[in-house]
Amino acid sequence: MMKPRARIIGTGMYVPDRVVTNDDLAKRMDTSDEWIRQRTGIEERRYIEPGQQPADLASAATKNALEAAQLGPEDIDCIVLTTLSSQADFPGTSFFLQDQLGLSDTPCFDVRAQCSGFIYGLAVGNGFIHSGMYRRVLVVGCEVHSTGIDISDEGRDVAVIFGDGAGAALLEANDDESDDSGLLEIRLHAEGKFAKKLWIEAPGSGFWPVRINHELIDERRHFPYMEGRFVFKHAVRRMPEVLLETLHAASLKLEDVDLFLFHQANLRINEFVMEQMGIPAERCSNNIQRYGNCSSASIPILLDEAARSGRLEPGHIVSMTSFGSGFTWASAVLRW
Ligand code: COA
Repeated sequence: MMKPRARIIGTGMYVPDRVVTNDDLAKRMDTSDEWIRQRTGIEERRYIEPGQQPADLASAATKNALEAAQLGPEDIDCIVLTTLSSQADFPGTSFFLQDQLGLSDTPCFDVRAQCSGFIYGLAVGNGFIHSGMYRRVLVVGCEVHSTGIDISDEGRDVAVIFGDGAGAALLEANDDESDDSGLLEIRLHAEGKFAKKLWIEAPGSGFWPVRINHELIDERRHFPYMEGRFVFKHAVRRMPEVLLETLHAASLKLEDVDLFLFHQANLRINEFVMEQMGIPAERCSNNIQRYGNCSSASIPILLDEAARSGRLEPGHIVSMTSFGSGFTWASAVLRW
């Protein structure tokens, strides 16, 4: 018997209502709308309201995905949540999500692969389905960056990039041999040598005798550190590499792809990659202008917007590619 292939049967997204424009940030740090737009393409992003929790975002995105699939939380066999901005140090955000969904014993866990998290999560879900262990796996990318960035002159290079949001995709086993929709190939990569080029080091159990103290906070080591140009250089090399590797594995060519979804780190990175690869703008979708970089939530948010806008039709080939902290880079290709 053919091994089941995972297909996406519902997508959802959620971003907080609070819009933060570049001008809003310019009131709190030495930056400008012009600088941010020119270097990143970002116009605005969303931040949570006081009291909103990461699991609230994940739960809203999940409910939309379930509604699209016409299923309920009890139909999910396993939850994979991807994040770099966990609600608590432990346990992972997935446990708070599971509780909010009213589930009592559905397995859940977090995947930590930063901006490539969603594609890593898809690979995990695909593996579970392919092995026959589960029939339906929820993969949710969920990030709250606004409470972790340094909104001051010192942190301006990183702070202007990030936004909050969540995106979800419900995977289901497709064992109908006459239906060729589903995930075709996924490729994952990482290079830990560059872990410190984009990271938050504290709180961390690498510190002794405590993970966080006033000194670490005074030294601002609980805020993200990024070597922007270094990250940019690696992103524009690794994304085309893994995208082509994945298409090749699926015996597809660039021309076969109907929609390219790239991680939303910086519009200039994506424009550079598209130009380098000869991908026309109309076959690519970006939303960083409105949401900033939502790390592992960026790609599922893009996917949900594409699905709901009618841009995706049955049979369409969709390519998703990411690059992020770790470093990690990954690509997935699917038939819608
Ligand atoms: N507003 C205004 N000026 C800023 C600024 C801000 N928010 N952030 C940095 N600057 C200043 C710098 O201080 C520097 O000033 P100087 O020339 O007087 O020293 C100047 O702008 C250029 O800084 P630099 O860091 O070299 O800018 P850049 O052209 O590399 O752009 C990034 C910065 C962050 C936009 C860019 O490097 C980038 O996007 N990198 C990839 C980041 C990424 O993808 N991260 C996420 C991966 S998941």
